[in-house]
Amino acid sequence: METERRPDLLGQTVVVVGGSAGIGFETARRAKAEGADVVLTGRNEERLEKAAATLGVSRTAIFDANDSRALQSFFEELDGPVDHVMVTAGGPYYSRLADMDFDEARRALQEHPMLMVGVAKHARDLIRPGGGLVFMGGTGARNPARGVGLMSAMTVALPALTASLALEIAPVRINLVAAGFVDTPLSASLLGDGLDQRRQELRETLPIRRVVTPEDVAALAVHLMTNTALTGATYDIDGGQQLLPA
Ligand SMILES: NC(=O)c1ccc[n+]([C@@H]2O[C@H](COP(=O)([O-])OP(=O)(O)OC[C@H]3O[C@@H](n4cnc5c(N)ncnc54)[C@H](OP(=O)(O)O)[C@@H]3O)[C@@H](O)[C@H]2O)c1
Repeated sequence: METERRPDLLGQTVVVVGGSAGIGFETARRAKAEGADVVLTGRNEERLEKAAATLGVSRTAIFDANDSRALQSFFEELDGPVDHVMVTAGGPYYSRLADMDFDEARRALQEHPMLMVGVAKHARDLIRPGGGLVFMGGTGARNPARGVGLMSAMTVALPALTASLALEIAPVRINLVAAGFVDTPLSASLLGDGLDQRRQELRETLPIRRVVTPEDVAALAVHLMTNTALTGATYDIDGGQQLLPA
């Protein structure tokens, strides 16, 4: 006889900072499917409202997560405690030294770590027992290559920060997802006309013989939310991309 499974996030609240597209959007969709009440944020109002309508989410907030005052106000004004915060805002900066825009480089260097620190500081007291924070990092820059230096530094820095923050904000949990290429609007904008060729290369060379999707990452993110044994760690999801020669 079949018994119905209780949805894993039933009665819980999940905040997705950067939830109107890509990995954040798919995580919101999966969290909703698992019974969560979802709060979606983003910068572009039209995109955010469209995403909220698609998912049937009623709570949204428009702000730039890299604006530390706006981030603090968002958490101060949240109505009631929450269980999980997933952060998918922020992007990478790839550039060779010769072409580097130093303002962009500074932005990228401070963006991810300071966003992690800001969310850890402002959200920790809102998290119910068992809950936690999930952030995004990458595996793509683990191997040295021209033009990836700053992102290589982030690849090393974010797991270290995650581990230390896990001690500071305990019993609130914190984990990092390190992704390789994920087929999202961000990847499309970075690759432009080269997107289809990159997808094909990955299908031919990745050990999994397919491209990693935002749904794959969402499944991992929701697992990190529901498995209360996990904290302070980094979880690679790249289909084996980092195992290939650069
Ligand atoms: N895609 C990949 O291959 C890949 C690989 C490794 C790591 N990552 C990381 O994973 C995260 C999500 O990537 P993705 O590919 O899903 O990106 P995406 O397709 O561009 O989606 C990003 C989402 O975050 C929102 N957002 C971006 N910057 C924001 C900000 N400063 N404040 C508030 N909302 C913001 C965007 O909406 P608005 O633009 O309207 O704000 C959008 O909803 C990023 O941090 C990225 O660096 C991605």
